[in-house]
Amino acid sequence: MEPEPQGDTRPRQRCGQADPGLHTLHSLRPRDQGGLTPGPEENPSPRRSTFALFSRLLLFARPYVGVLALALTCSLAFSGARNLRNYLIKPLLNEVLVPAQGSATPSVAPSLWPSLFGGSKKLQIAHAAPASPEEGEARARVQRKVQDELLKIALVGLVLVLIVPVVEFGKNYLIEYALGRILVDIQAAVCSKVLTLPLGFHHDTTRGDTISRTLNDVGRAHRSLDVLFTDVLQSILAILVGGVMLVSISWQLTVVCLVVLPPVLTIGGVYGGRIRKKARRRQERMGGVTQRLLEILAGIKVIKAFRAERDEEQSFRRENLHLFRTTMRVVRNRVTAKALMEALNNGFAVGLMLVGTLLVAHGWWGLTVGDLAAFLFVMQAAYAPTKDLSKGWTDLMDAASSAERFFELVDTPSETPDPPDAVQIDGVHHGIRFSKLSFSYGREPVLQDFSLEVKAGEMVAIVGRTGAGKTTLADLLLRFYDPGSGSIEIDGVDLRCISRDSLLQHVAVVTQEPFLFAGTIRDNIRYGRRDASDAEVLAAARVAHVDEFVEVLPDGYDTQVGEVGVKLSGGQRQRVTIARAILRNPAILIFDEATSSLDAKSERYVQEAIDALLGGRTVFVIAHRLSTVRHADKIVVLESGMVTRVGTHDELMASDNLYRELVGLQTRQD
Ligand SMILES: Nc1ncnc2c1ncn2[C@@H]1O[C@H](COP(=O)(O)OP(=O)(O)O)[C@@H](O)[C@H]1O
Ligand SMILES: [Mg+2]
Repeated sequence: MEPEPQGDTRPRQRCGQADPGLHTLHSLRPRDQGGLTPGPEENPSPRRSTFALFSRLLLFARPYVGVLALALTCSLAFSGARNLRNYLIKPLLNEVLVPAQGSATPSVAPSLWPSLFGGSKKLQIAHAAPASPEEGEARARVQRKVQDELLKIALVGLVLVLIVPVVEFGKNYLIEYALGRILVDIQAAVCSKVLTLPLGFHHDTTRGDTISRTLNDVGRAHRSLDVLFTDVLQSILAILVGGVMLVSISWQLTVVCLVVLPPVLTIGGVYGGRIRKKARRRQERMGGVTQRLLEILAGIKVIKAFRAERDEEQSFRRENLHLFRTTMRVVRNRVTAKALMEALNNGFAVGLMLVGTLLVAHGWWGLTVGDLAAFLFVMQAAYAPTKDLSKGWTDLMDAASSAERFFELVDTPSETPDPPDAVQIDGVHHGIRFSKLSFSYGREPVLQDFSLEVKAGEMVAIVGRTGAGKTTLADLLLRFYDPGSGSIEIDGVDLRCISRDSLLQHVAVVTQEPFLFAGTIRDNIRYGRRDASDAEVLAAARVAHVDEFVEVLPDGYDTQVGEVGVKLSGGQRQRVTIARAILRNPAILIFDEATSSLDAKSERYVQEAIDALLGGRTVFVIAHRLSTVRHADKIVVLESGMVTRVGTHDELMASDNLYRELVGLQTRQD
């Protein structure tokens, strides 16, 4: 299909209908697109394996593999150095202290130090005179050997002292760096996901849940990477290094130590599973608390006006107590696991001492005092990483449910993507056709068999009672949703075949609640077209009568508005959003009750701004107030999603009861 639609009224059917794959995409209803896989019937495997979750989370770490590898190398060096320090007890005992003591009299220690620090005195091992020259010779040999050994040990110790701070700095700094970058990436991924989720999703899910997923769950999932790289990996490394040393001291005793594994794994498995399950509930509750807070903030005026502060406070407190109780369920499991591990550890340490002593006493397996002492020391040093590891494990299980909730968000289908042969439009040249359009949000149909032809440049008014489906119609034209059946065509091209970018570039909508972002008035107008020049922004502002109230503001167009900053009145805000629409210079303009919440004076201003916008565009004016629509080329009366009549004001006044009723209402209201 050639991408130039203008001047071609041929119905373009290929896109969306010939391709069965595309058809299924298009037939996705918002109901199917939205909803965070709430029930098992929509999510065949609601509980994903922990391994799968973390491997997926680790993909975020892939760009920083180099940094992480360096950090882990540092970590390896760090635990190596630490273990080596403990290991030194073995040569110290076996090669220095025991031979020194064995070869003679008690007071060895005082004379060790001068020799170490380069004193000229020889190490005095014995005070008693040697019985024979040979014995003297032998003692001197032992003395020299002991001295050499001691010097070696001291040198190794010195190197360790120098290395440890360097590698420790390296590992901590690099890990934090990589984690920080990963967090930036994860946040960006979440934000882009939230932005591309279809509108249906945002209607079906509470904001509290989405916010909680994007803040609490993302935070926790990210922290689990921290746990993985620091606690878990480093502990495993430390334990491995320690294990190598243990084996080198006595492999038999090391094998004996393995009896501790089955109970450790059992505790980890049982409590890990429980923690994960309870943590999921806690995270869901957290969403509930966030939602309560959002509602309180959104409804603050109503709450105050109805003196409902105490009720709200209590309901918020109740929600938090719920959260507290679910949190305590996690804590209970976590603390129990910790206590059991601790008991196991203590029992193990005592048992090892007893067994070791027994072995040394009987001289089995060639175990010496030095061996046992070094073994126990290395074991002791491995205690901290073991503890970190079991804490890391429970932390990971706790975070797994957050990672799961985070990925559920990531996996929610985004807006239907553009088909590969999507058409770029450059405006409306012939017209817009709605044919047999039907749509529903859930079970109840909102639009049924809606058909309408609009010529380019026409102004069409759509009137009807509240809930008739007017806003839904505008949303369909903006492609926030795709129709259940039927179609909307611009110049004969189905909306679903038009690239979303090019469609939205030529449509501007002004809604009932004018939304301003935090920022200056100028920024808010420029939102209509990001590359507009200052002069263009000011021109649009003039047309929309924005300059009249901006002139008296101290900072003019640089006044901060939105959540923080000055409060503009409804009419002023509306004029800013109209300036935004003017700047966009769209081919299709939609006013959805743009003036209905304004007082008469603001309405007149806004109406003038709207009139200035009209020339040469295809305009949809949605209203239940009818003063704005009298001059429309065509007025469509919508009732329960169906067109009941189309005509001009005069025709409808003559023939349509509902229209007369609406006009009557209007006159009474004014
Ligand atoms: N996001 C939504 N989810 C479910 N139902 C909706 C949603 N938006 C609107 N509706 C329902 O669709 C019908 C038409 O709504 P709407 O198009 O907003 O009417 P109007 O703009 O004419 O007042 C109403 O019954 C309304 O309750
Ligand atoms: Mg509406």
